[in-house]
Amino acid sequence: MAANTVYVLNGPNLNLLGTREPEIYGSDTLDDIAGMLEDRARELGLAIDMRQSNHEGHLIDWLHEAQAEGAKAVLLNAGAYTHTSIALFDAIKAIRTPVIEVHLSDPSKREAFRHHSYVGMAATDTVQGLGARSYLVALEKAAQL
Ligand code: DQA
Repeated sequence: MAANTVYVLNGPNLNLLGTREPEIYGSDTLDDIAGMLEDRARELGLAIDMRQSNHEGHLIDWLHEAQAEGAKAVLLNAGAYTHTSIALFDAIKAIRTPVIEVHLSDPSKREAFRHHSYVGMAATDTVQGLGARSYLVALEKAAQL
C-alpha cells in the first residue's frame, strides 16, 4: 500500500445512506461519496481505501491496520459508536496515524446524547455538518498533514 493512501472508515448504518433519514443525512449513497472522494483524491495525489462496517471491532481492526500499513491518515465516521465507544477512543490514541473525525450532520445541534464524542476526544481534527462535503473537507485536511 502506498504511503499516500487515506483510509475512509464508516461505521454502523452508513451502508444505508441515500435512503436513511435523507432529511438529516442527504440523498448521496456511500458509493456516491466514495466516487467524489476518489476524484478529489486523484487531484490531490492521494489514494482512498473506503470501507464500512456495522461492527465496532472491525473499525478498531482497521484503525490498527491503517498504522501497520503506513496509511497517511484515516477519515473516520464512526456513526453512533462516536458517542459510546471508549474502545474506539483507545484505538485512536493507540496509533500514530492521524485520524480526522467526520460527520454528515452536526451532532452538536441534535439530541443531547450525540453531544459527547469519544472519537472527537482522541482525533486530530473534526469536520461535521456539511453533508457529503464533510468528507471532502476532511480529505483536504488530510492532504495537508
Ligand atoms: C453521524 C452522526 C451520528 O450521531 C449518527 O449516529 C450517525 C451518523 C453523521 O454522519 O452525521 O450514524 O455520524
